Amino acid sequence: MPSIKVNGVARDVSGLSGDTPLLWVLRDHLGLTGTKYGCGISECGACTVHLDGEAVQSCVTTLSEVGDAEVTTIEGLSEQGDHPVQNAWREHHVPQCGYCQAGQIMMASALLARNSDPTDEDIDTEMWNICRCGTYSRIRDAIRTAAKEMQSR
Ligand code: FES
Ligand code: FES
Repeated sequence: MPSIKVNGVARDVSGLSGDTPLLWVLRDHLGLTGTKYGCGISECGACTVHLDGEAVQSCVTTLSEVGDAEVTTIEGLSEQGDHPVQNAWREHHVPQCGYCQAGQIMMASALLARNSDPTDEDIDTEMWNICRCGTYSRIRDAIRTAAKEMQSR
């Protein structure tokens, strides 16, 4: 596979095996280190990115599976870092150590793109990412704030 589209730009991945996990392509080959490694088995959500707008876990998504789809990472979610979810995260001071937060933001932004008015149950069901610092209640509050901002646009 000669290239994949990442954050709107075609990036050269020629020479990489099709079974290379997207997470390693992003971090090791493209230098996009905002996407984090946590478990490697789709259990923690730290590596979440968007594939054509849907949240996927890049640790278990191979380069071949990406194909022609558009990959969006935390670096490409918004040019100025002012996506409503990012604004809400700042407003609610969500991060503690920060390690899980890129994955949380990518998961939350995909959720809100699908469901502009999620219930608490929707949030609890869909935000399955693990946060060892226990920021879950602030994540919930920030998603509600981001949903309101997105609805008012
Ligand atoms: S590193 Fe991918 S889900 Fe944990
Ligand atoms: S903020 Fe530390 S793991 Fe989530």
